[in-house]
Formats: sequence, structure tokens, C-alpha cells
Amino acid sequence: MLRTHTCGALSNTNLKQIVTLSGWVKKRRDHGGLIFVDLRDQYGVTQIVFNPKNNLPAFEAAKALRNEFVIKVTGIVEPRPEDAENSDLTTGDIEINVEELEILNTVKTTPFEIDNDINVNEEIRLKYRYLDLRREKIHNDIRTRSTITSHVRHYLVKEGFCEIETPILMKSTPEGARDFLVPSRNFAGKFYALPQSPQTYKQLLMVSGFDKYFQVVRCFRDEDLRKDRQPEFTQIDLELSFVEEEDVISVASNLVQYLFKQVLNLDIEMPIKRMGYKEAFEVYGSDKPDLRFDLKIEKIKDIFQNTEFNAFKSVQEIACIKISDGKNITRKQIDNLILDAKKLGAKGLSFFRVAADEIATGVAKFLTGEEKENLKTRLSLQEGDLVLIIADEYQSTFEILGQIRLNLANQLNLITEKKYKLVWITDFPLLEYDSEEQRYVARHHPFTSPTVKDLENLEENPEDITARAYDLVLNGSEIAGGSIRIHDTLVQQKMFKLLGISKEEAESKFGFLLDALKYGAPPHGGIAFGLDRLVMILTGNDSIRDVIAFPKTNSGLSLMDMAPSEVDKKQLQELSLKTIKH
Ligand code: AMO
Repeated sequence: MLRTHTCGALSNTNLKQIVTLSGWVKKRRDHGGLIFVDLRDQYGVTQIVFNPKNNLPAFEAAKALRNEFVIKVTGIVEPRPEDAENSDLTTGDIEINVEELEILNTVKTTPFEIDNDINVNEEIRLKYRYLDLRREKIHNDIRTRSTITSHVRHYLVKEGFCEIETPILMKSTPEGARDFLVPSRNFAGKFYALPQSPQTYKQLLMVSGFDKYFQVVRCFRDEDLRKDRQPEFTQIDLELSFVEEEDVISVASNLVQYLFKQVLNLDIEMPIKRMGYKEAFEVYGSDKPDLRFDLKIEKIKDIFQNTEFNAFKSVQEIACIKISDGKNITRKQIDNLILDAKKLGAKGLSFFRVAADEIATGVAKFLTGEEKENLKTRLSLQEGDLVLIIADEYQSTFEILGQIRLNLANQLNLITEKKYKLVWITDFPLLEYDSEEQRYVARHHPFTSPTVKDLENLEENPEDITARAYDLVLNGSEIAGGSIRIHDTLVQQKMFKLLGISKEEAESKFGFLLDALKYGAPPHGGIAFGLDRLVMILTGNDSIRDVIAFPKTNSGLSLMDMAPSEVDKKQLQELSLKTIKH
């Protein structure tokens, strides 16, 4: 037997028992003729004592132990001397007096110490991910991920959802991002695509009469990666039939409430706050506003109708952020914010400070007395306030201020840890204009239904159409997105037309779905949570890489096994493929 107990199991209720433990040497200390070893496994750490009087050969062998050796020891559970008790450990009252030692495996010097508190370059951590995952914090976070997934399954099954697996090798039906393709051997020149999400399948399952579907499912998107984006990630994917927005929002809100209670023992405020897209964009500069801190954006263009200041003349929009009592923000910090703004595409960032009831610095010299008075009233200005202004195109003005808002929150330490702010964003525009492709694209995806009032005049004012879509935002991160779907073939065809997808293209790419909608598709809708993002926030991390066992770098590389890699010529031949060197 390799162990009778784990390294986290023993306490003074086990005194005098003979036990066997196996684990990794966390630390070895030689002390006045005794050798102490902290033995670690997933469950905890137990102190092991080698005494030459108990077993001299074991004591001698223990001298060779190094950190991370894998050993098995048998011995007697003894109380620790009173002054040696360690209340940080659950096993802190006891130690094991070793009678026998077996070395199960030795170890090459590890590239970094297996400890939470060491600073290791992420590339090294990813190369030796199996060692990184031995560290307590990340190890526990991966286990918490498993707990969260099991709570999700438990909750949804209890609510009557049925988990159904859908294909990983599917037809390329672009949803927004680039597809990962898999060449077919049997059909030379043809490709499967990996699903960007099971969107079309879950809609087809509604046509099949599965009333409430869910799946914890891997999705694949070949897009630019960031801290909160991986090329493969996991969704908690839901779809329900005979539902409207409120039904889906209610199920998803209750699931989040349940998870916060189970994982953090926190009662979130219900109902979760709602905000229209326009408000989110114009007040927080983002469709995923971080509501943990204030710093709201204010529109001030109307104040400058007759301005002589060139930077504010003939611009689409002028808006600002007021930092109350911003005296401590230095000129250097402001210069950095100006640089940030320029990097984001702003022509500039204007500012002024309020000193003794007077707007006197920065752009003040370009403003008329009336404009200054109006600003004072509109922004309730007080001595010490700092105001940052962007004058630009509508979209950029708010986007840039939104980013500056986030930068400021970091610089001014406005984000309190362990604060959770949830908000539903609704009333999204259905379409957005892609200037590169010179056509409209769906903001959510092409299967999202326009609001009923807009159904009639779909073609007239495409930009004004709102979608029956909703996103759930937690601490400034979009953790879920969904919509009520189009369940009518004609509307779906109109939608493809709006998106510049020809009848032939729609038929060849989505014919199966258009067909299915003709066979009695029920009204339906759903949502998908980004499980990685949810786990990231619930475990207090700021990158989803920290909650994915084997993540990829921002360039999509797996540093441990070096995927993607070249393949044999024979494999390429079988797939009728040739590679071209660029
Ligand atoms: P959407 O594209 O909004 O919707 O994705 C749903 C959620 O998945 C997460 N997510 C990601 N997480 C990590 N890495 C990525 N690259 C990534 N991309 C998305 C986000 C996001 O909110 N089929 C629809 C859902 C529906 O309409 O029901 C869909 O996939 O948290």
C-alpha cells in the first residue's frame, strides 16, 4: 500500500497510530541530529521526523532527500512539542516519527521552486506547466474550476436542462471570428471547421423539441488573443424553446446567483442591474462597463456650440471625465494619459484643473467665460477637480474615454479587491458597419432576432435596428452573451441579405438551418457563458491562462509541446495538401 492517509488528513485524533504517507518533499531541514521533512501532496503538508535512534539507515537515506523527491514513509503519529506547533497547517499539531523510508522517485533540479510566492516568467511556467500546476495557488484554482463546473451541471440538470454533445468537426459556418480548419482525408480539398460555438446545432436541437439544452463545451476561434481570450475556450452553452428575453435572463441570473453562493458564499444583489447599450457606451465608454468604480463620462458638446477653440470646432462629439479632488495627479501622469489617448487614436487629450473656484490651467485659455461657467454648473466643479476632455468622432470619443477611465482606475487604485459588480447590457444595435469589408456585420451573430418593432422596416434604417440580445458583464468582463433567435426562414433570409450574404452563399453556408426553420421551429433563445472568464473572476485571477490547465500564449503557441508543429510529408500527402513557404 502506498499510503494509509493523505498529507492533509492527520491530526491529534490519530496519535500513536502507525501510518504510511506518500508525497513530494516540500522542504528538508537538518536540526541537531534530527532531519525534518515537510511532505506535500494535493491535500496538505505533514511534518516528518527522521531520528537516527528510530531507524539509522532511514536517517542516513534522508540526508540525500532534495526538494520534490517523491517518497513513501511509514511511522508513528506523535504530538509536536508545544513550541513547534504550527497553526497554519491543519496537520500542525502532529508529526510522524519515521520508521521506514522508501524513495519512489528522484528529481532533476526543477527550473523554478514549487512555491506560490516566487516570481517566475510566464514562458517558463508554460514550458514546464506540469510543475507550475503543482504550485498550491494555481493547483487549487484548477480544482475550483472543476467544482464550479460540477455546480453548473448540478444546477442546470435540477432546472430540467439536458446536456447534449454536438460535433467538433463541423461545417465552416462563420460566426464572426476566423475558423480553425481540419482537412478531410476522405474528401480531398474539403475541410471541417472546429466550432466557434455550437450556435447552429443548439438551434437545431430546439427544432428537434429538446426544450432546455445545455453543454459545457469547448469552442475554437482563430482571433487575436489577450488576457481574456484563448483560441480554445469553454462555454456553458444554453438554449431554451418558447422563451423571451426575460426568461433567459432569469435562468442565467439565477445560475450566477447560485454559483456565487456555492463558490464564494456570497449573496449577490438580485435582480441584477440592467443598462441599455447606449448608456453603457456614453457613460462608461464600453459595452462591458466596470461598475466597481465611478468616474462617469459626461457629454459636453452642447456647451461648445460657438467655440473658437479649433480642437473643439466641427467635431462630432465632445465628452469628458471629471476626477474629483485630482490635485495629486501630476503633470507627468497627465502626459502619460495624453500618450495613452494618442495611442488609442485620439488627436489629443485636453485637460484643465479647477483652482480656487477658477478654471485656469490647461485648455482654460481657449474657453470663453460663458463656457467656463457652463462647465462649472454642468460638472459641479470644485477646487482641486481635474477634467480630461476628448473631442473626436462619436465612436472614438467614448471608446478612448472608456479606456482612459480604466487606466485611471488602475493608477488611482480605485478597484477594491473582492468587489463584484454585475450588470446586464441590453438593447444592442443589431448591426455594425465593418469599414474594412465595407458591409454590415452582425454585432452578436447572424441568427439574432431584431426587436419586433424593427421587423417591418429591416431594410430602411439598418443602423437603428436593435437586437433582442443581452450580455452579462462582471467587473468589466463580458462573462456571457446571448439572444432571442430568428425562428422564421423569411426573416433569416432578410437578415443574410442585410449582411451582404447572397442567396447562393446563404444557401451553401446555412442552407441546413434555413431548411430546418421551415419544419416548425419554435420561438427560441439562449446564452453562453465564458466559463474561463467566470472562473478567472471567481478565483481572483486576471488572466484566463491562470485557470486553464494547458493554455496557449498570445500567439497561439503551446510552449510545452510546441504545438502547432510541422507534420510528416506522408500525413500531408494523405490529406492532399502542400504547404507554401511565405
Ligand atoms: P459569444 O461569442 O458572445 O456568444 O461568446 C459567449 C461568451 O464566451 C466567452 N468568449 C471567450 N472566452 C475566452 N476566449 C475567447 N476567445 C472567447 N470568445 C468568447 C465570453 C462570451 O461572453 N453562440 C453565442 C452565444 C449565444 O448566442 O447563445 C456565442 O458564442 O465570455
